[in-house]
Amino acid sequence: MGESHLFYQTSSRRPRIARAEGIYLWDTSGKRYIDASSGPMVSNIGHSNPRVLDAMKRQMDSATFAYRLHFENDAAESLATLTASLMPEGLDRIFFVSGGSECVESCLKLARQYAYVSGQQKRWKVISLFPSYHGSTLGAVAVTGMHQFVEPFRDMIREMPKIPAATCYLDHDELSHEERGLRYANMLRDEIERQGPESVLAFIMEPVGGASTGALVAPDSWYREVQKICREYGVLLIADEVMTGAGRTGRFLASEHWGLQPDIIAMAKGFAAGYAPLGAMAAKRDIVTAVVDNGGFAHGYTYAGNPLACAAGLAVLEEVRRQGLVDNAAQRGASLKASLAALMGRYPFIGDVRGKGLLLAFELVADRYTMEPLPAELNAHVLLVEEAYRRGLIIYSRRTRGGTVGDHFMVCPPLIVNDTDLDEILQLLIDSLDAFADSSSLPVNREISL
Ligand SMILES: Cc1ncc(COP(=O)(O)O)c(C=O)c1O
Repeated sequence: MGESHLFYQTSSRRPRIARAEGIYLWDTSGKRYIDASSGPMVSNIGHSNPRVLDAMKRQMDSATFAYRLHFENDAAESLATLTASLMPEGLDRIFFVSGGSECVESCLKLARQYAYVSGQQKRWKVISLFPSYHGSTLGAVAVTGMHQFVEPFRDMIREMPKIPAATCYLDHDELSHEERGLRYANMLRDEIERQGPESVLAFIMEPVGGASTGALVAPDSWYREVQKICREYGVLLIADEVMTGAGRTGRFLASEHWGLQPDIIAMAKGFAAGYAPLGAMAAKRDIVTAVVDNGGFAHGYTYAGNPLACAAGLAVLEEVRRQGLVDNAAQRGASLKASLAALMGRYPFIGDVRGKGLLLAFELVADRYTMEPLPAELNAHVLLVEEAYRRGLIIYSRRTRGGTVGDHFMVCPPLIVNDTDLDEILQLLIDSLDAFADSSSLPVNREISL
């Protein structure tokens, strides 16, 4: 292989992909990998689904691009209709983009332009959580709560106010779980008051945390209270369902678990499940009408509503429905979560297992009671992923506590997994954890076999 002219985030590189099918990927040496993280929680329906490929080929035979200022296209229209039918009541206006960051940018700008045209020009602040991840573009970085993605750009952005994510699993207090939820939700109220309610435009959050927190789920009371506070202050609620949307958590939207009624929703990742770069913003009709009828949305992308991407998205959502993948995510997710929790018996350094549906993660710690993280310099988040990769198991890791310390691992296979697939994933994970523990001198209760 000659010199590569490509670059990504770091200089480390991976083998080349040869082909992918179902939950498996093969590199050009013939080695097989199980995609137990669906890439970065993207490949919800598995790889190379023949129905989706056929739909894309049919679209390619008619048109791969038709610019929206010149032509409408059936694929975008049908996908918008289907998407609207899957959204909470009233969110029936759909705007297509090419990915999660573009989607979050679109949500922020639509919210702001709505305030701008409806006599609320002073509202521009978007409160978000720490930790959180909302994307890589500068607008998304301004609401992202992860040090390493924000720090170099701090001078270039207008950083938005953050409140702590509801990391109740780290708290040692006398409160019940639900009381803790209220305590964290009230931080939103306090922040709105501190910022000046007339200046607060929106609150953006991931209903189930993604890579920044490792599938953090707040107490039920948090969601109820956050919704109430947003309504009370006229603050728009933006649900970033880029990772959680399209069935990953066992409901089409994670917001549904708590009956949340966001004003604007961002979806991407599983929405076209890796078959095309595609995301969708869903927004309330009155928000969109106010903006579109008052000079138009001052925002757009060349590839918005691309017919090939939309044909892929439409076929993906049809597969999600045809195969009952949302229910499968709920059922297989519950059993995978129980199996991950059972690993805590063998590995005292697993501090927490969390998530919903097939958005699941476990976190490693030095002490399960204090939840003190493993030493940062151990780089557990890299070591365990590499042990797994060597064995042909792909899992996804990040630093947990805002990006600098803590190690969590997402185990988020495609929603098509069956029990045999889960057994294979778990066995490889156990082998990887054993090897990681040995190389890092961490204890293993070997008498507990799983
Ligand atoms: C919750 C959330 N929002 C936004 C994004 C950004 O999406 P993309 O990487 O497609 O731009 C991500 C990506 O991981 C995400 O998890």
